[in-house]
Amino acid sequence: MFATADLSGPKPEQYAQLLSQARALVADEPDRIANAANLSALVYHALPQLNWVGFYFFDGTELVVGPFQGLPACVRIPLDKGVCGAAARSRRTQRVDDVDAFAGHIACDSASRSELVVPLHAGDTLIGVFDIDSPVTHRFDKDDRAGMEAIAACFMQACFPASRIEGRAA
Ligand code: SME
Repeated sequence: MFATADLSGPKPEQYAQLLSQARALVADEPDRIANAANLSALVYHALPQLNWVGFYFFDGTELVVGPFQGLPACVRIPLDKGVCGAAARSRRTQRVDDVDAFAGHIACDSASRSELVVPLHAGDTLIGVFDIDSPVTHRFDKDDRAGMEAIAACFMQACFPASRIEGRAA
């Protein structure tokens, strides 16, 4: 049984604690659905002011919704649309302080006001994105970005160990 542990200390320290919980959750488990589901639940319940946390996976054409916590979401996102598409296309984390100011933002949950999307790649291969939404503007700072990127990397290392090898070689 998973026991929640409250995060404490400065934000980077809280993310270090969250990362260690994430690593424990995915340890020895390569299944991406299982790991995406558990990591979504972990992050959603551990951090304040979030209304959606989840994964979209690339099916060769579009991003398709995967495991998440929050309200039902848009099922398919073309790569040329939304914050998720921008992250997938650019291969760079998108940190959006105010979604109303982001041209092309897709409002799956009208409560969302700011958003952080981390792209997931195994070498050159697009796997999907890790998407976190907040009901308040300016919710995510550089510590959140680094913390979520570390959790995304933890997911990739568990599910796509070859990507870790490529990462080391690079
Ligand atoms: N807002 C995202 C769509 C996904 S939902 O936030 C779950 C976007 O603009 O790509």
